[in-house]
Amino acid sequence: MPSSSQEWWKSAVVYQVYPRSFAESADAPGPTLGVGTLAGITARLDHLSWLGVDALWLSPVFRSPMADFGYDVSDFCDIDPTFGTLADFDRLLAQAHARGIKVILDWVPNHTSDQHPWFQESRRDRTNPKADWYVWRDEPANNWLASFPKGEPAWQFDEQRGQYYLRCFLKEQPDLNWDNPDVEAAMHDTLRFWLDRGVDGFRMDVVHLLGKALTHDDPPICRERGWGHVPYNDQPATHERLRNIRRVLDSYAGDRTSVGEVYLLDEAAMADYYGTGDELHLSFNFRFLWAPFEPGELATRIRRTIDLLRERGAWPTWVLSNHDVPRHRQRYGGDEMLARMAAIMLLTLPGTPFMYQGEELGLLDAVIPPERVVDPGLRDRCRAPIPWDSSPLHGWVAEPWLPFAEEAGSRNVAAQLADDGSMLHFYRRLLALRRATPALHADIDPVHFQLLDHSPDLLAWVRSSGSDRWFTYVNPSPRQHPAGSLRGATIVIATDPALEGTVVNSELPGRAAFVARRDGTM
Ligand code: NOJ
Repeated sequence: MPSSSQEWWKSAVVYQVYPRSFAESADAPGPTLGVGTLAGITARLDHLSWLGVDALWLSPVFRSPMADFGYDVSDFCDIDPTFGTLADFDRLLAQAHARGIKVILDWVPNHTSDQHPWFQESRRDRTNPKADWYVWRDEPANNWLASFPKGEPAWQFDEQRGQYYLRCFLKEQPDLNWDNPDVEAAMHDTLRFWLDRGVDGFRMDVVHLLGKALTHDDPPICRERGWGHVPYNDQPATHERLRNIRRVLDSYAGDRTSVGEVYLLDEAAMADYYGTGDELHLSFNFRFLWAPFEPGELATRIRRTIDLLRERGAWPTWVLSNHDVPRHRQRYGGDEMLARMAAIMLLTLPGTPFMYQGEELGLLDAVIPPERVVDPGLRDRCRAPIPWDSSPLHGWVAEPWLPFAEEAGSRNVAAQLADDGSMLHFYRRLLALRRATPALHADIDPVHFQLLDHSPDLLAWVRSSGSDRWFTYVNPSPRQHPAGSLRGATIVIATDPALEGTVVNSELPGRAAFVARRDGTM
């Protein structure tokens, strides 16, 4: 088990719930049939407990007109009726805590909905008390493009006020003006509202946008590739604001945590967001997420991440899928074997892994016919509902808001529960092993973690706790390799079940991944 002095978020496996697509409750259906609810999540907590995850991150459940399916918030301190009520939330939190599962909410500090009362007031005229709560200009201050819909300018003209406002995302998502201390204070209050209710932390949406160099135009490459003003939003002010946010979290007992969506595709820039232990507790690592499933490239990304974070005494995260990107099984070409290798990698790397709902089933993205596309950012495919069983509605009360993935008839929770060899059981075994094995919670320093020499074909590392040594081996190529320091280790979990319980001899197998143990005293 993890040492008792280690913060919970260092040993936890976090499971992302995208509430619209997770589950409905047959006993308490929500007002919009076919859309998941908080009661639906509560009803499935036993399943998550069985699976063995330690914490849930809920994508936004706050009041929202749903232009960006919850990332456009119109009240940070209430639950959207689609999902239920504050009482439903309190029930979910209590029930999760009763099972030892932490709950992290998704805080969206960069922008609100255009329906938020703050924006309604701000857009009224240039002199109202909230006139300066958003970023208003007589003319666009730069050439920035919104992240979506692709190609639209980030400056939106507002007829009512007769000025442009900044919106880095949809026109329904005006950016807050964090240069205004009243905005910062009001946003801190929204954190306190949920901290007082007992939440364990926050995933923080696009936190690298909290400080902005508005006077800089984007270079052509950003515009061509749709990156959107990335070089100019990593500002000293951003870090100051994160330190202030951290102070709010630290003023609460109980290790409240933060994980930032720092969408900067460079590990060094990402590492800065940990500050000196006074900014984010954790940051997502998108360079790793986007790496192809090639051992050489993965080893480079892992080495660089660990080297940078070791220097700072910071703790890595590992994530392969979420609600914004094609699922990793899809990205890696669809082969379930590669998805199993990826699971072994994800759940044995040193750091905090984040799983996205459905990855434990090995889901592929759904095919969305044009008439059912609903997301302006075109991310519907990875947001398909979880198929709970093989019935026509797969455990939902009504036809869900998005189509199921094509394999839902066979690749669903009930079918995989009934099959010991399924992906679902594979994840459960890995999660149980991880939880029970101190070496898999050990530090990232060179005493406890080392990447092993590798050819471009294979990725391998060793983690240690005392004399106990655990090896991870990932080789997607058909080629065998000399066993090296893995010789004599006993394979505990493998992509090929026939390898489990065997001892590594002189050769390492091709097209296989495993976790193996060797006691140093042997
Ligand atoms: C990142 C979120 O993950 C994404 O879903 C959302 O559309 C944008 N931020 C804007 O909030």
